[in-house]
Amino acid sequence: MNYECGCDPKLKIHCENVSKTFIQKGNQQVPVIRDVSLDVMENEFLVVCGPGQCGKSTLLKIIAGLEIPDTGFVTLDGQPITGPGPDRGMVFQSYMLFAWKTVRDNVELGLKLRNIPANERHEIAQHYINMVGLQGFENHYPHQLSGGMKQRVGIARAYANAPTVMLLDEPFGQLDAQTRMFMQKETARIWEQEKRTVIFVTNNIDEALFLADRIVLMEGKLPGTVKTEYVVDLPRPRDHISEALLRLRKEITDNTELVL
Ligand SMILES: Nc1ncnc2c1ncn2[C@@H]1O[C@H](COP(=O)(O)OP(=O)(O)OP(=O)(O)O)[C@@H](O)[C@H]1O
Ligand SMILES: [Mg+2]
Repeated sequence: MNYECGCDPKLKIHCENVSKTFIQKGNQQVPVIRDVSLDVMENEFLVVCGPGQCGKSTLLKIIAGLEIPDTGFVTLDGQPITGPGPDRGMVFQSYMLFAWKTVRDNVELGLKLRNIPANERHEIAQHYINMVGLQGFENHYPHQLSGGMKQRVGIARAYANAPTVMLLDEPFGQLDAQTRMFMQKETARIWEQEKRTVIFVTNNIDEALFLADRIVLMEGKLPGTVKTEYVVDLPRPRDHISEALLRLRKEITDNTELVL
């Protein structure tokens, strides 16, 4: 793992035996995740990888405090998570931008809600707009942006609130293959530049291998459970087709039901 100080990694997030059942139409109970236990270290880039509908978003929403687990608990810096907080920035599967707000206003939103003065707000927003490479597009509206650009706005907005944890839920799922690869490189670059604890959800093993310090694999059938973990101890920036990466890819695919 990639720790600058060389000291012992600090536990950032701890999930213990987290389970969640949803009640769906006709009062049907759908157990979605069961007994998920997970530790995430400070500044670690953890990727949760699993096929469609195995409870990945549900797990992330529980860590975000947007869903409450039926059993088990989650702590952040040792404190139980009881709801959403500015310490966690979330980037959703869909872009979730306000169509009537400009790029700048979308990025400033959380800062405005926290009554940060306008000057300071602009400065912070500009820093993150630059970081995601959207300088020059500050006054554009979402409909004037490509998918990749919209997702950058979402990432800048999450960073602008200075969270210590970034929760990204399949952020590049809607992008074409080329833009997706570009955004993966950008994500790795931004993470190197401004280290945070990251939990990144994907169903794509190549994306996981490119980004992760560690990959947690979830089982395909509901309720989702954590199956296996893999440490990706490979130098960055990663090469999608390096021999070591492909060897690990084979090890993972031999051991999983993911359609890869
Ligand atoms: N609020 C909810 N109420 C009822 N059922 C829900 C709710 N949220 C999720 N589910 C159900 O939980 C299951 C898992 O959903 P979840 O979104 O966590 O999976 P996922 O792994 O993120 O899927 P995907 O890869 O498609 O994004 C699905 O069957 C879904 O219908
Ligand atoms: Mg999902």
